[in-house]
Amino acid sequence: MHRAVIDHRSQKFARLGSEVLENLRPIFQTAGPVVIYPSSGTGAWEASIVNTLSPGDRVLMFETGHFSQLWRQLTERFGIVVDYVPGNWRRGADAAELASRLSSDTRHTYKAVMVVHNETSTGVTTSIADLRRAMNESKHPALLLVDTISSLGSIDYRHDEWGVDVTVAGSQKGLMLPPGLSFNAISEKALAANKTAGLPRSYWDWQEMLGPNRSGFFPFTPATTLLYGLREALAMLQEEGLANVFRRHHRHAEATRTAVRTWGLEIVCEEPSEYSSVVTAVFVPQGQDADRLRSIILENFDMSLGAGLSKLAGKVFRIGHLGSFNDLMLAGTLSGVEMGLRLAGVPHQPGGVTAALQSLAPGGR
Ligand SMILES: Cc1ncc(COP(=O)(O)O)c(C=O)c1O
Repeated sequence: MHRAVIDHRSQKFARLGSEVLENLRPIFQTAGPVVIYPSSGTGAWEASIVNTLSPGDRVLMFETGHFSQLWRQLTERFGIVVDYVPGNWRRGADAAELASRLSSDTRHTYKAVMVVHNETSTGVTTSIADLRRAMNESKHPALLLVDTISSLGSIDYRHDEWGVDVTVAGSQKGLMLPPGLSFNAISEKALAANKTAGLPRSYWDWQEMLGPNRSGFFPFTPATTLLYGLREALAMLQEEGLANVFRRHHRHAEATRTAVRTWGLEIVCEEPSEYSSVVTAVFVPQGQDADRLRSIILENFDMSLGAGLSKLAGKVFRIGHLGSFNDLMLAGTLSGVEMGLRLAGVPHQPGGVTAALQSLAPGGR
């Protein structure tokens, strides 16, 4: 990324633009268009809404955690009516609940179903395939909008096969880049909805993007250095093979959970089939302060664990295991947590790291 910025109206730039726009598609597992914004993920959230909905539209959204709450807030600010299905922040969106809500919506008032694929605040992953099945069975025409900001390029995700209409993503997690790029993968149905969507939009307008994108250009100054990084990130994912990338994340998540269970601590995610492969959120025992533990680990080992967000603040710490990450990095991470638990005097059983190493390298193979 530390290279000179080139003229973004030049043919050299067009080659870079075309290459990244094309090579992004397999990461979303789509044959359709993906647009790139120079923004954080929140911008791509906004883009998904202003491009598909009209003021007063009704949408159905699931409470999975902190990020579902923020997406809801943003949506409501645009005059969209959000029916928010309550959740306990320990489970993903429930396909049976979706089926029941959609089948009672006989007049098809819901314009979209919105869900966070991997809830970064809780370490819970929702099965999008199950939600799609529920939508198909109820023959409901709502659009399906999915936030994959912390799952894309780390957990299996299939935009086309699962009939997702808009996939929202960001650069700073599975794509291993600094923050600053965000994405919308767009289905044909979403493009059709875009033609009649009545919300005002300018900067986020897909049509403004899609025209210049056809020849590798952008309608405004692109984040050229981040696109250099994106080109390399896509090459790295392709080299390793997406299936291997997903397997690596799954393995690291398993080893992390083995450590957590050995310590005798509780994983936030209640349902094993919904365990996240990219982040594990862990409760500290009652009466302990997760933020004190985090600051002791930061001070002693220069390792920053994720904080508990909103209603989980102080109760939870989060171990990230995503992106450019290997066995040795995980071993170091878990060692830092175990030493931190000792230094902070948080009651736990020793041996989590040993159990995780055993899970990573079982021996006798
Ligand atoms: C699942 C999820 N959605 C949305 C966001 C918001 O993205 P950003 O902070 O890049 O605007 C985040 C950020 O971590 C996230 O994890």
